[in-house]
Formats: sequence, C-alpha cells, structure tokens
Amino acid sequence: MRRLLAVLIAVGMSVVAANEVEVFHWWAGDEGPALQALIEVFEEQYPEITVNDAAVTGGAGVVARAVLRTRMLGGQPPDTFQVHAGDELILTWVVADRMEDLTFLFEEEGWLDVLSPDLIELISTPEGIWSVPVNIHRSNVMWYVPENLEQWGVEVPETWDAFLEICPTLQAEGVTPLSLGEAWTVVHLWESVALAAMGPDQYSQLWTGQLPFDSPAGVEAWELFGEILECTNPDASGLSWQQATDLVVDGEAAFNVMGDWAAGYMYTTLELEPGTGFGWAASPDTEGVFMVLSDSFGLPRGAPNRDNAIAWLRVSGSLEGQDTFNPIKGSIAPRLDSDLDLYNAYLQDAAADFAVDRQVGSLMHGTVGSDPFRDNFFLALDVFYDTGRNAQAAASAAQAVALQFGVGR
Ligand code: GAL
Repeated sequence: MRRLLAVLIAVGMSVVAANEVEVFHWWAGDEGPALQALIEVFEEQYPEITVNDAAVTGGAGVVARAVLRTRMLGGQPPDTFQVHAGDELILTWVVADRMEDLTFLFEEEGWLDVLSPDLIELISTPEGIWSVPVNIHRSNVMWYVPENLEQWGVEVPETWDAFLEICPTLQAEGVTPLSLGEAWTVVHLWESVALAAMGPDQYSQLWTGQLPFDSPAGVEAWELFGEILECTNPDASGLSWQQATDLVVDGEAAFNVMGDWAAGYMYTTLELEPGTGFGWAASPDTEGVFMVLSDSFGLPRGAPNRDNAIAWLRVSGSLEGQDTFNPIKGSIAPRLDSDLDLYNAYLQDAAADFAVDRQVGSLMHGTVGSDPFRDNFFLALDVFYDTGRNAQAAASAAQAVALQFGVGR
C-alpha cells in the first residue's frame, strides 16, 4: 500500500513537473519547417518550457478543426491553437465565450502600434482582442514555372477569358491547364473565381449579407467556375494541395491557384528559386486585389498551462518570432516593422501588393464566413457536380446555406 502511494505521488509529481505548452495546429509534414523554427525561437527564450507540438495533418485545417471542436466542447482545450483571424475565430469561439481577451498582452507588448488597424479589427469585438496573428497569407495567387510556359508557347493569363483560350492548346499538348486537389482546394479556387467574376465590391457584399449568393452575378461566378473546371485534372479529389503544386513543378500542369503557402513549399521544401524555379501572378481578373487570410494563435479559457501559453503568444507576436517564421512559411509578417530584407523575391512582391491593394477576405481560410456556412458550402459544390454543373442550382444551394446558417459577422 505504501509503495502504491509512493508510486501515485511520483506520478502526480511528474504531471506537475512537466512544464509544457501544447500548441495545436495543422502544419504537419511539408508544412512544418516554419513552425519548427518558431519553436526554436521559443525554446531559446523559455528553455524551461517544452513545446508539445500537437499537429493534426490535413491541409487548410479541415481535420484539425473537427478535432479541436470536440476538444473545446468537451472541456479539454489545448493551451493554444491555430485559428484564422476573422469570422472563424470570432463566430466559432469568441461568441461561444471560449476565449480569453488578450487586450492586456497587446498593451504590454506594444502590438497595437505595430499591427495594422484592419488586422486588429479582424481579431476584435467591442469586448476584446482575441488572438495573436502570426502571418498574412494571400489566397488569390496563380503559380507556374516560367520555362515550361515558354516551351508550350503560352503566356500567363491575366483574365479567365485568356485562360480559357489557351486551355485547349495546353490540353492538345497533353498538359493539364490548371491543377486542382481535394475538395477544399476546389472551394479555394471558387473564391478566387467568384472574386474575378463579381469584383471586390460584390464579392465583399456576400459576407455582409448585402448580396445574395443567387444574384445574377453569383450565378455568373458558378458559370465561369464550371468552364474552368473543364480545364482541370480528373484525379483532383485524390490529391493534396502539395501534390497539385507538384503537377505544375513537374511540368504536367501549367497553372495552379493556391495560397502562398505554395511559395513556402516550393522555396523551403522543393528549394526552387522564386522567379526562375517558379513564377506567380494574381489569379486571373484579380490584379490589384489581395485576398487576405491570417493564421493566429489564441488562448482558450481553461488552458491547462495558461502562463506558458501566454509565453508562446508573446513569441508568436514578437518581431524575432515573425521574421523567423514567415520567410520559411511563405507568408509576410503582420508586423509593420518586419525586416523585408529577410524575405525572398516572392514575399517582397506580396508585401508591396499588400501595402497598396484592395483587401478582401478568404472564405476557405476563415477571414469571412462562419464555420457552419463554410462547412455546408461544400454541399453547394456537390449540388454543382450532381446537377451536371448547373450554375443556378449551385448558386441557390449556396444561398439556402447562407439563410440557414448565417453568413458572417
Ligand atoms: C491555410 C493556412 C495556411 C496553410 C494552408 C494549407 O488554411 O492558413 O497557413 O497551412 O491552410 O494547409
């Protein structure tokens, strides 16, 4: 009995003694290096705290968010978790009163002076500031390999009309004009096409409920989307976003529309040089518009290691943390005092655009649109496929989902 007691005490002590911070996120495998670098910065500054790197594989957090939901609702939050700035953060966790207000941290760290007011607005409600943004990604980017385009005799299309014109030429050469991956990458493509078809004003009105999804402009977006899908690879549903990028890199496809984590993948993992190894342009018809999304970390109420989570947040928002993480990740730093000399040519270009472009929010990556809306928006895609690509049917399905679940804030 006494021995059992001793064992129990020892076990109890080791639980207390484990000084860790659980960081929950979806940057697994190929997506991991930037976070690993941030963890190194953290461990240098807080050598007494061990990072429990809780990665859940799956692009765009489709799987991670489901796991997180179960944990949060079940009263087992991680210490901190990756969450997109914007409606995903506010309408999922802030309205449910599951997050701690971080205004105190923003004041202590001086972040109110180094982050843009637009970004702070995305993570705020009148009651507080609810997460720490670690990056800014661009969703509406078209990727290609310059040498391959030259060989096939095609130019980077500035409009979808121009793309649709070169589509048969490429197909005749056995090249997939536009590579696509699993379902979420289809929604990712849809948002850039909708932006192209509707323009930034109307696209933004979708998320305030001012414009219904089945307006004539909304239907046109689906029509254009259907034409573009004709130019994509038939095996898309089985491919990750990295595999869709690989098709471009390997010369099997001409273009891919993906967020600029693809630049991170091509630069950091595939070691390609921006400009020669890969090229980029705003996705067709969206020049001058930056579809923005931002990964952030929040502090859930009841975080088991609250102080350590706050330490993690301090490093995530710091200049050193952000200028270490972002050049590897393929994103720019939200901090306005970030040192652009540390960033590659693609990221310098993205930063220049971000400074002057009109900004709109990404649906797939949580800037706009509630989680239930996004989850059920996938049904509109199913309707599109099931009805033989009937634009009107898909647009009214999207509108029904908007009415059922609400759109945004
Ligand atoms: C996004 C996220 C990016 C990247 C991407 C692919 O939602 O914001 O940082 O991880 O998914 O997984």
